[in-house]
Amino acid sequence: MAARSLGCGVWRLLGSLPGHAGARGWPPRGVSALRRAASGPSGSVPAAGVQPASYPTLRVQAAQQPAAFWGPLAQETLLWDTPYHTVWDCDFSSGKIGWFLGGQLNVSVSCLDQHVRKSPESVALIWERDEPGTEVRITYRELLETTCRLANLLKRHGVCRGDRVAIYMPVSPLAVAAMLACARIGAVHTVIFAGFSAQSLAGRINDAKCKVVITFNQGLRGGRVVELKEIVDEAVKHCPTIQYVLVAHRTDKKVHMGNLDVPLEQLVFDYQPGDIFGCVADIGWITGHSYVVYGPLCNGATSVLFESTPVYPDPGRYWEMVQRLKINQFYGAPTAVRLLLKHGDAWVKKYDRSSLRTLGSVGEPINQEAWEWLHKVVGDSRCTVVDTWWQTETGGICIAPRPSEEGAEILPSMAMRPFFGIVPALMDEKGNILEGGDVSGALCFSQAWPGMARTIYGDHQRFVDAYFKAYPGYYFSGDGAHRTKGGYYQITGRMDDVINISGHRLGTAEIEDAMASHPAVPETAVIGYPHDIKGEAAFAFIVLKDDAGDSDMVISELRSTVATKIAKYAVPDQILIVKRLPKTRSGKVMRRLLRKIILGRTQDLGDTTTLEDPSIITEILSAYQRHKDKKATSQ
Ligand code: WTA
Repeated sequence: MAARSLGCGVWRLLGSLPGHAGARGWPPRGVSALRRAASGPSGSVPAAGVQPASYPTLRVQAAQQPAAFWGPLAQETLLWDTPYHTVWDCDFSSGKIGWFLGGQLNVSVSCLDQHVRKSPESVALIWERDEPGTEVRITYRELLETTCRLANLLKRHGVCRGDRVAIYMPVSPLAVAAMLACARIGAVHTVIFAGFSAQSLAGRINDAKCKVVITFNQGLRGGRVVELKEIVDEAVKHCPTIQYVLVAHRTDKKVHMGNLDVPLEQLVFDYQPGDIFGCVADIGWITGHSYVVYGPLCNGATSVLFESTPVYPDPGRYWEMVQRLKINQFYGAPTAVRLLLKHGDAWVKKYDRSSLRTLGSVGEPINQEAWEWLHKVVGDSRCTVVDTWWQTETGGICIAPRPSEEGAEILPSMAMRPFFGIVPALMDEKGNILEGGDVSGALCFSQAWPGMARTIYGDHQRFVDAYFKAYPGYYFSGDGAHRTKGGYYQITGRMDDVINISGHRLGTAEIEDAMASHPAVPETAVIGYPHDIKGEAAFAFIVLKDDAGDSDMVISELRSTVATKIAKYAVPDQILIVKRLPKTRSGKVMRRLLRKIILGRTQDLGDTTTLEDPSIITEILSAYQRHKDKKATSQ
């Protein structure tokens, strides 16, 4: 959503404009131009030592020589895209009023860009909110960013030059940005006092034939709540020209969002201006690219750069950081959640996490126990947990809950809903599209979206083969997914992590999830291996909590858990306790390594350079050797 895309000549203009006198201090710039205008020809710079004109002189000149008076003033105060050729051409007898003929400018550029270029951190607005003593300062940079975002959003919703936009918002920075956003794209705004009734609002919207209304969920005035969105809902029933209602949040109240309604906030993380966004991913991973660097910075957010690990100096590191930095959104990987869960709740509870509002998870399916822990322990059952599904190739989040929407049900361990522009299709093995709910298949997409990969550098054919061959006409993610009756999506894991036990196909993630529901087991990894009778059998690697107790007991409990939760055939034939699982630096379990170890193909482990700690290979190898020896003696 870069301002660059506004296409109103702003950037060209910025590059070519001459410098200006300082914007701050007294007299304001306009006054110095005025004085110069009075002391020389139009727009000329007074010679050193020339005394500025006095106010009486200026008054006389303004009355007698309007062009000489207003011309230099307009030239210096405003930023012209196209210079005017005539300052004025007015005739009251015919009602002709013409000023600055031939000239073109964009007032939002004059209000914002020129100041951002010189002193972006100067405060543009001090918002004295209804709640006493809670003022907010908005810099020119922030105001420009919000304006550009809104301008782009308006354009995306079909608002063109000359269209009318109703702004039904109380005095607030967002209302100011909405005005400037309209000006920026050449739309005409009609700002309607937010105390007007639905009927008065409808009348004004209809007079101007507005295409869009921008409003808040609620307003606050003198401590009273005003149900702005409800009033807009009522009004637009009588406004046939309204195509969209853009809704921002002034309070926490969730309001009904209907067909016309578009939420204005960032949608998955519920990011609000001024929030501290804490994505703890490494920038060497796509999550770091999109949600530490590009996403937050493009949106003018404050982004936390986390250099350390979740357990250094102790397992309280994340939560101590949340308390100290007052992080509002925390975005991390399930692997870290499972690791911390293993260390117990005390490390979390020790710190104040009241700043947190949204807890995001990415990178792997988050099992139910980890989800619940994040929700109940970290989020005190108060924060929203968003399980976000996406891939390096998708550029950004594709399937995720959207907490800012009304009635936004969020179910544990579910990525839930496709994001804007994402059209999923689930395919069966033969490439038929699976319709309706309660179906599982290969997760594909039928339509392109802006952030997706365009090629593989230097090997376009590989790009085509990897993503577009399996299901012609569709992008294939490589993942499997289940769509519920309610139309929600749950990711079941990589398709190549599917095993076939006695003819039953199931994702290894399903078995892992069932086992991880055991209170003593924070992490598991299941792989398939050839079996004479069953075709394939499941082999489970499990990590136990420090205080897990009798491990034989845990193992037998795990077997019955899987049998009850899935089916008897899904119970792993072998279960091996390990201290930790082999993981990549981005936290993904390297199941292929485990498979090779079990298959005895240790000479050909493949590329292990992405392993977080290569010593894990010998650790697992010797644990597996002990396991085999034990089996041999017991037989
Ligand atoms: C997996 C990471 C389940 C999936 C952004 C995907 C997930 C791969 C989720 C991409 C999730 C990511 N639930 N599985 N919420 N998020 N994945 O390229 O298998 O490092 O294809 O991008 O991670 O990993 P990548």
